[in-house]
Amino acid sequence: MKDKASKVADLAQRRGFYWPSWEIYGGVAGFYDLGPLGKELKNKIMELWKKIMIHPLQRIVVEIETPMITPYKVLEASGHVENFTDPVVECKSCGRKFRADHLIEEVTGLKVEGLKPEDLTKIIKENNIRCPVCGGELGEVKPFLLLFQTQIGPYEGDRGFIRPETAQGAFVNFKRVYQLMREKLPFGIAQIGRVGRNEISPRQGLLRLREFTIAEIEFFIDPLNPGRPPLDYNAKIRLLPWELAKGGQKEPVEVTVKEALEKGWIMNEWMAYWMLKAKELLNLLGVSDEDQYFEEKSPEERAHYSSQTYDQLVKTERYGWMEVSGHAYRGDYDLRRHIQYSGKDLYAFRKFKEPKRVRVKVVRWNAKELGMRYKSKAKEIIEELKRKDPEVIERELYDKGYVEVAGERIEKGIVWIEEREDVITGEKFIPHVVEPSFGVERLLYVALEHALKEKDGRLILSIPKYLAPIQAVVFPLLEEEALINKAKEVWQMLLEEGLRVEYDEKGSIGRRYARYDEIGVPVAVTIDFQSLEDDTVTVRDRDTWEQIRVNINELPEVIRKIISMKK
Ligand code: GLY
Repeated sequence: MKDKASKVADLAQRRGFYWPSWEIYGGVAGFYDLGPLGKELKNKIMELWKKIMIHPLQRIVVEIETPMITPYKVLEASGHVENFTDPVVECKSCGRKFRADHLIEEVTGLKVEGLKPEDLTKIIKENNIRCPVCGGELGEVKPFLLLFQTQIGPYEGDRGFIRPETAQGAFVNFKRVYQLMREKLPFGIAQIGRVGRNEISPRQGLLRLREFTIAEIEFFIDPLNPGRPPLDYNAKIRLLPWELAKGGQKEPVEVTVKEALEKGWIMNEWMAYWMLKAKELLNLLGVSDEDQYFEEKSPEERAHYSSQTYDQLVKTERYGWMEVSGHAYRGDYDLRRHIQYSGKDLYAFRKFKEPKRVRVKVVRWNAKELGMRYKSKAKEIIEELKRKDPEVIERELYDKGYVEVAGERIEKGIVWIEEREDVITGEKFIPHVVEPSFGVERLLYVALEHALKEKDGRLILSIPKYLAPIQAVVFPLLEEEALINKAKEVWQMLLEEGLRVEYDEKGSIGRRYARYDEIGVPVAVTIDFQSLEDDTVTVRDRDTWEQIRVNINELPEVIRKIISMKK
């Protein structure tokens, strides 16, 4: 018997949702193409994501677009060059490479994600885990960098990467968007875009891809005054907090948001807000509350930038609980690192109730000396010194004895930092970031798997009707000229109404119903002999197979109502 994952994959290929990329050359693991129906469904899912995640807060959440190709320096600053690795182990006999933590988990059932390479090597040796393909001995576990590397332009030194997340595009643009938002917090930068991760051995179809679409929001808050999200404190949420999991608890608990915040299981109200939104999104994709929960990652499992992460997990038949979104409290990690690496001011400003007297740091320089040494370049150097953060200059002078501006190394003594007393109206600070991040193809897969039903031995894609890539189909009951003409007229009229409608006259009516049920078309309109007399048609429901008779004039309205989210 085929499992659901096989049925989804078969249907996806046969009817044009998705299939492996580069098929005619044998395919490459971890890459999938979307066919016409898959692409339309993905578009609908991204629209729904925006509707749930952006629209309710549209005054403070804005969408931007930044490049996939990212300079080395940016991902060095973000910590990815150092930390974005998975453990790999090579077979000493056949040379095949495997993701070490997954291999150990498959063989022993132990959860070892996030353990160090040396600990994984030890577990492999202790459990005598061998190469799953040839049975050979396995070597030492090593970190493998998941970034796809490239070169920007013709010079070999100009290294770059395909971004592994869109988030860095948001962080480097913090100051611009902050200014556009009239320097008010909180606000969010949303981005939906392609990313690449050079997974070691992806074998889970659409659930583990080397290139995919991510939909994320970097939500910037003032940690001392985060503002209140429009949060339903009595809403229920299913959680497995680390505090319980480390004591051996395996099942999630259902609590109110209020309780989760009071117990410190969710560290911030905005985290709770985005998690509830994520739950709502999955409900709207057809995943019930029982088939999803949030699991907190242990400190070892968390990404390098995160101080709390919850994964939103959805039940799948073959692969178990799969992560569809991650909710990370990134704190000030990313902006702090970009301030440090770029030397630019990425601070926000917090106004005091009353002005205060304080000591502030200012940059000073010996203009005469700069003029003598750097001639016409001195002006550019001074301009850059004025723009640069005094804290960063002070640290550079302390660490290196010089500060690098306009491509020159200006020594300590020619430039220095002074403190002076000032009356200030506020202070600079680094905002904190809460990040909800979704894998769009994973959303697509779980929506398909959860929609796939069987009735009378036939497959029905009971996808929520507002998500259906094709909204209706028009059939003439028989292949007779009068019926065909009338059916084409109705089809044309529905197209002009802006609906996404197909027409089909081939095969028995039963067969045609089955063909469109299988790709999730919510409404089948049939033109029969009565239609020729009284301008009525039958409208058949995909899930119940019930039919009603409707006047052709009312048809667009009836279809719109069926596919509407509002019921
Ligand atoms: N930005 C979230 C992630 O990389 O998973």
